[in-house]
Amino acid sequence: MITNKDILGIRNMNSDEILQILETAEIMKKRIENKEQREKILKDFSIVTLFYENSTRTKMSFTLAAKYLGANIVDLGVSTSSVNKGESLVDTGVTLDQMGTDIMIIRHSMSGAANVLARNVNASVINAGDGVNEHPTQALLDLFTIYEKKKNFKDLKVVIIGDITHSRVARSNIFGLKKLGANVVVAGPSTLISKNMECIGAKVTTDIKEAIYKADVVMGLRIQLERQKGGLFPDIREYRQMFGINKELMKYAKEDAILMHPGPVNRGIELSTEIIDGDQSVINEQVKNGVAVRMALLYLLSERRKGNEDINSKWKNVRSYTKDKWNKRYIG
Ligand code: CP
Repeated sequence: MITNKDILGIRNMNSDEILQILETAEIMKKRIENKEQREKILKDFSIVTLFYENSTRTKMSFTLAAKYLGANIVDLGVSTSSVNKGESLVDTGVTLDQMGTDIMIIRHSMSGAANVLARNVNASVINAGDGVNEHPTQALLDLFTIYEKKKNFKDLKVVIIGDITHSRVARSNIFGLKKLGANVVVAGPSTLISKNMECIGAKVTTDIKEAIYKADVVMGLRIQLERQKGGLFPDIREYRQMFGINKELMKYAKEDAILMHPGPVNRGIELSTEIIDGDQSVINEQVKNGVAVRMALLYLLSERRKGNEDINSKWKNVRSYTKDKWNKRYIG
């Protein structure tokens, strides 16, 4: 069972929790494929999304996941909310808490924003990406996709290429992959790889061919021009020539290597169009798996909340939890 009230990062998760999420996602994926998803497992659960930064995949997949489970989900619509009148993050969270929100899903440009919110609300908080810190749900769907293709994490060589310094996806993936026994190599221009990557267990190189050599998984990252202060690499054309992943470079990886990218992709910059749409690409499967993984997270958090008498006591008379039934049906 998930031990914490919130999902803030992979750094503080243990391998059992990660595997339970992956296992539950497998069940959820089958339910989607069998069109069984409309059963109202999360009936009476209220979820709010607070996206202070743009998103397509994360926000839409959480929204669909919640709807497939029968939850009430609404979006704050940050740009038209009282945030624009200067209301603080904590005051916004406390306000939504008072309305009976069970789960808040937040994306914010400030590292640590999800943590601040979680400390100040009764609702469970899911970090949908905070600054350059973590993007745990992306890493979980990446782990799920790797597991589907490779069936085991032990001793896999996973190479992550690109703008490592600004990538919360890279950090969350490194934490998760290391906990599950994989080896991680990060590669890119030295100006885009912060020194602490070795401290968190990744091998660092600026030699892209050495990085990709015999890799099982090649993960490209988006060049995040919006987070760069400028001058970290000379120009896009030069970046593409030196670090863009293309068909020739993929030949250095194992024959059965898979190509991943969290999206959105700058086509023709970090990845060539040919390999994005090629046989080794699992980018579309990552997107598909995002819904199942987020369904699993919402379900497991709801179970965690039902077990928490303090938080749920006031709802006891109006909510009919059927823990045993759910466990039997979904967890077996
Ligand atoms: N991968 C990812 O977080 O995509 P979005 O920004 O579209 O949510």
